[in-house]
Amino acid sequence: MSRRSSPDGARRLLIHDLAQLASPAGAEAPLRGRALGEVEVLEDAFVLCEGSSVAAVGRMPELPVLDVDVVEIDGRGLSAVPGLVDCHTHACFMGDRVEEFALRAAGASYEELHAAGGGILSTVRATRLASEDELRAAVERHRDWMLRAGTTTFEAKSGYGLDRETELASLRAIASAGGIPTWLGAHAVPPEFDDAAAYVGFALAEVLPEAAQIAEAADVFLERGAFGVEDARRYLEACAEAGLALRLHGDQFTELGAIPLAIELGARSVDHLEATREAGAQALAESPVVGVLLPASALFLGREMPPARALVDAGAAIALATDFNPGSAFCESLPLVCALACTQLQLSPAEALSACTVNSAHVLGRAGSIGRVARGFQADLVLLDAPDWRHLAYHLGGDLVTAVVRGGELAWQR
Ligand code: NIG
Ligand code: FE
Repeated sequence: MSRRSSPDGARRLLIHDLAQLASPAGAEAPLRGRALGEVEVLEDAFVLCEGSSVAAVGRMPELPVLDVDVVEIDGRGLSAVPGLVDCHTHACFMGDRVEEFALRAAGASYEELHAAGGGILSTVRATRLASEDELRAAVERHRDWMLRAGTTTFEAKSGYGLDRETELASLRAIASAGGIPTWLGAHAVPPEFDDAAAYVGFALAEVLPEAAQIAEAADVFLERGAFGVEDARRYLEACAEAGLALRLHGDQFTELGAIPLAIELGARSVDHLEATREAGAQALAESPVVGVLLPASALFLGREMPPARALVDAGAAIALATDFNPGSAFCESLPLVCALACTQLQLSPAEALSACTVNSAHVLGRAGSIGRVARGFQADLVLLDAPDWRHLAYHLGGDLVTAVVRGGELAWQR
């Protein structure tokens, strides 16, 4: 990095001589069908950031003479893509589940461990013991892992407290660590309640009023062994009434009606979809609801992959996310998720990029400000140590993120 001297005081960052700059084409969101795979690639490119926004993007021959104070990053041999957007994580948790991981490797199933009081509830036990400061430190640690993998915006869910104090502390910890908080108040039924309906009654009466002041969205795990359709509907309707956007964990193991419920209630997204069959895919494609696909979770649990190709070909809007959590997807890397999208979901590198940038931004209600490298957008960029941006998906498990710019500042550099 070097600095040119000069007068006017505004913070400027110039990334110059990039071998390639790739960003989803157009200005629409969410992208569907053919448009999902349309990425604009500029060769021999620059990006000029002013304050926290992108001021100009172009090819090097068009770069104006800058006689102002500017920090420079030399992009020779590198490519750049928009800062990645992870719209589905469970980054607020304590402890780990490495014991369970070993048991699963020896043949136990995720659902069996959950039914025996392990799984999510074992993380609930560890998370309830933490102070709010400890929760915040945990989210910050996970946020920094994500940042080094190129994630500049992350959503994170509560859902490992399931009591008033820990749910609210989790949401505050996520917000103060810079995440976008989602209240996953209906993640599992905690042991002090006899059934899902009684727990949902408690959560809505005692936690929702304050959770709605901190969170942007609400989420529910609609699955056998967790919450059924009627409990999910009651929970989501009350959350919508309190002003929260709606998300659902649906069709992870069984199709219980998550897609029709998401459409009926006008949810932002329905996430997982490993068990979705043709009729569900068709219904989703005809709706505005985004299908958030989590291939790292399917891989980690050895489950079938979601029908991504069929969804995109039918016209559904899809996004990609990590599902980062200690049980079903201990993976913070969106580049790895892009690699899985291309090798397991039959998506192209361009479709994968759009799905974890502009379409994820749409799920978070931010497609007008993040997810693209364009004038006026927030200056969030990932520099890749490869001259072709498609290495983002090609380099399986690769360590190719060389620098991350967030809000016009160098947030991380190798
Ligand atoms: O999205 N399936 C529900 N929730 C998370 C897993 C949480 C956990 O196992 O701790 C998921 O996969
Ligand atoms: Fe999840």
